Amino acid sequence: MSVLPRPSSFDDVNGRPVPPVPVIRSRALHVVAPPSGLPPVVGADLNAPTLTGPVRYANLDHAASTPALESVKAAVDQALLSYASVHRGAGYASRLTSAWYEQARAEVATFVGARGDDTVLFTRTTTDSWALLAKALPSRTTVFVFETEHHSTLLPWGRSRTVRLPVPKSVEDAVRLLDDALATHASRHRLVVIAGASNVTGETWPVERFAELSHRHGARIAVDAAQLSAHRLIDLQAWDADYVAFSGHKTYAPFGAGVLAGRSDWLDAGTPYLFGGGATASVTDDGTRWATGPARHEGGSPNVIGAIAIAAACATIAANREAIEAHESTLLARLREGLEVIDGVELLSIFDDDHDRVGVVAFTVDGWDSSLISQVLAVEHGIGVRDGKFCAHLLVDELLDDPWRERSTTAVRVSLGLGSTSEAVDRLVNGIRRLVEHGTTAAWTRGDRGWELLDQDDPRDAPVARPW
Ligand code: ALA
Repeated sequence: MSVLPRPSSFDDVNGRPVPPVPVIRSRALHVVAPPSGLPPVVGADLNAPTLTGPVRYANLDHAASTPALESVKAAVDQALLSYASVHRGAGYASRLTSAWYEQARAEVATFVGARGDDTVLFTRTTTDSWALLAKALPSRTTVFVFETEHHSTLLPWGRSRTVRLPVPKSVEDAVRLLDDALATHASRHRLVVIAGASNVTGETWPVERFAELSHRHGARIAVDAAQLSAHRLIDLQAWDADYVAFSGHKTYAPFGAGVLAGRSDWLDAGTPYLFGGGATASVTDDGTRWATGPARHEGGSPNVIGAIAIAAACATIAANREAIEAHESTLLARLREGLEVIDGVELLSIFDDDHDRVGVVAFTVDGWDSSLISQVLAVEHGIGVRDGKFCAHLLVDELLDDPWRERSTTAVRVSLGLGSTSEAVDRLVNGIRRLVEHGTTAAWTRGDRGWELLDQDDPRDAPVARPW
């Protein structure tokens, strides 16, 4: 019988080695749509209440969270029928669940292009992954990060050991800034952290180039793939990058699971993330010996359903990559072309208009508050988008800092994925055009809690039965 590769330190909570688990191939983990079609997501038939009655919900907020894939729901439904403890029991259900948990890890390892000796950890989110890595960094590590980053990538390292690089004007500028910073700041260990794609502008960063530059200076590189995982290939080996992190809830797999994958040495030597059962190799009155491998940082009973959900999503995305990329690139071109020609609309860019990007577009509309725009889109048109600074305050402040024009201090963000349709994109573009040309349909006022409808109920507040 073939067995799963298993980290040597996978002792059970009582310190006994866990026997190898049999490989049990679950068809549910590999449910995929035909190659020519797009894999379906659940909830695609959701209706949203608007001032003129219910309309099909237009989900244009995938950068915040994606809906679940049908294949994810099928895998989770199946796993729930038998789920039990992971690495903590001899019973059949426990053995089965433990096998699925490790198979999920193997599926994710393939998805991120992990090297054979990399560690693949299940976390809660990208934020959690970086918090874990920050805690595990060797002492005297200096971290280099651009001010373009999401707060979860910018902040966890601690101000005193972080070198912040300004928002670059171009990729060449970014390379120059990082090259200079790495040449200037000597330190025992150094880590460069960059996003694979911006959560504000969708622009991709040439990861291989930054990996080569970092390694030339003897530094490691970690890639925030939160905005890549559902849209583009992640490949630690092809990038020659050291770490990568992403979130299940942005990868068509809900249930609070994320991933950190990369070099084992720092993770095996670093402080365990959660002290507790499963993370220990032995505990005696004389002291505690911590496990190595994934167990070291996965103390407590793991989120096995979350791990299975991510694995199912990874399998489906990998099997449908070309169709997904083609769908998103068609919608992105339609969206940008539609918005660009509307008077007063400005699309935000770090680099330039032609730069490669995933399906994320942030924009302002002259004379209109971004928060009002997103409320109007929701209540008058049944469209879901996000407004604000998107947890990337330094970047948005820099992109909107324009003394010559009266621009909003926040932006509206539209983000595309498998739950987006061309009808939704057209509805959004027409909604913005209508706003610019004719104003809002309803009367709105700014109250203590933000923009509210004047003298009428908000249709989104109509009571709905709880799901439990
Ligand atoms: N980080 C997520 C976003 O950009 C929540 O919207």
